Amino acid sequence: MAESRDTSTQTAVGPQDLLESMAVPVFLVSDTGHILYVNPAGEHLFGTGARSLLRRPIRNFLSGDSPVLAMLDRVVRRGRSAVEYGIRLTGPAMAPRIVDARASPCHDTHHQIVLTLHARSVAQSIGGHRLGQMSAARSATGFAETLTHEIRNPLSGIRGAAQLLEEAVGPSDRELTRLIRDETDRIGKLLARFDTFVDGATVPTAPVNVHVVLDRVFMLAKNGFAKSASFTREYDPSIPMVPGDRDRLVQSFLNLAKNAAEANPEGTIRLITGIRHGLRVQTGTAAHRGLPVFVAIEDSGPGIPEDMRQHLFEPFVTTKSGGRGLGLSLVARVIEDHGGVVEVTDATVGSGTRFTVYLPAVNSSTDGAQAPSPADTAR
Ligand SMILES: Nc1ncnc2c1ncn2[C@@H]1O[C@H](COP(=O)(O)OP(=O)(O)OP(=O)(O)O)[C@@H](O)[C@H]1O
Ligand SMILES: [Mg+2]
Repeated sequence: MAESRDTSTQTAVGPQDLLESMAVPVFLVSDTGHILYVNPAGEHLFGTGARSLLRRPIRNFLSGDSPVLAMLDRVVRRGRSAVEYGIRLTGPAMAPRIVDARASPCHDTHHQIVLTLHARSVAQSIGGHRLGQMSAARSATGFAETLTHEIRNPLSGIRGAAQLLEEAVGPSDRELTRLIRDETDRIGKLLARFDTFVDGATVPTAPVNVHVVLDRVFMLAKNGFAKSASFTREYDPSIPMVPGDRDRLVQSFLNLAKNAAEANPEGTIRLITGIRHGLRVQTGTAAHRGLPVFVAIEDSGPGIPEDMRQHLFEPFVTTKSGGRGLGLSLVARVIEDHGGVVEVTDATVGSGTRFTVYLPAVNSSTDGAQAPSPADTAR
């Protein structure tokens, strides 16, 4: 008779061994940016042994403007995970390379962050649009941080100077100095809104009627950039409200509608809503969250080639001569802040593209829960 063995008691490798044998560089970083643990793949990547890396600030081993540093800082401040795709990694002892970086606060202690750096294949790096030329400005958030910082400093100088001038000039010129002051204040307020984008800190979670959002998008599109397109609104009147920020949702769906209109200015744009049970995502706080509400924007354009789809939500990816390549990265950011996800597929009708956004429902942490239906659902 064959010898029976109890495999449940066999522990081939412990967690430490597992980390040590992983090909992906893994770091544990303190909230002050000091390296607390590095696996051999991490040592190899940084071109430096653990002995020199441990208890030292990670910034010593990266270039000063590295997006990884800004990302770690953000994770400490927000206490939430972050991902940056296709960033350029350089450092004193490291050959430059393109990586995807992920940073998450530890479950037990939020004062420590797990950082993994996933190398991109050479093909991906070369194929990536303008990849490699971007460093700190590679991500929209890094870009926004740099921009707000660089504008805010001279702005306060301009405001101060205008204030001094205001006291020195005669009444006729005072109108002009006041104009300078008011306009610098206005730019300051715009920067404050930009900060919210950077931090993603406070997404108001008032119940939002998705159909009201889409109707606003429809009105703006039809009277603006999508005059020649025809629209269909295929709303499911039973969908629940979603928790969120109405203005930012309008901004996101407006970006999707604008892309749809640009893909085929005289084509058909379908605005579709519905419920899809079963889709769940892992979130930082709740273990899993259901995303029962979906909103799709479908166009009849030429579609998006498969190899482009993987870079689509990265900033500065554009095929348009006047495009900034920021629309979809903003959409991804806003939807992530709303606890949702966005995916791109082929259109379900004819040729074209479909962007589908999945969102949680108000008062539900599970798929099936229903919030009251919006009373003012538009058809
Ligand atoms: N519906 C679509 N159909 C075809 N291609 C699309 C569609 N939506 C996005 N794309 C492709 O994805 C790229 C990135 O879109 P994104 O909205 O991020 O930037 P953009 O439209 O080029 O510039 P902007 O910053 O003005 O939005 C586009 O340049 C285009 O090539
Ligand atoms: Mg766009």
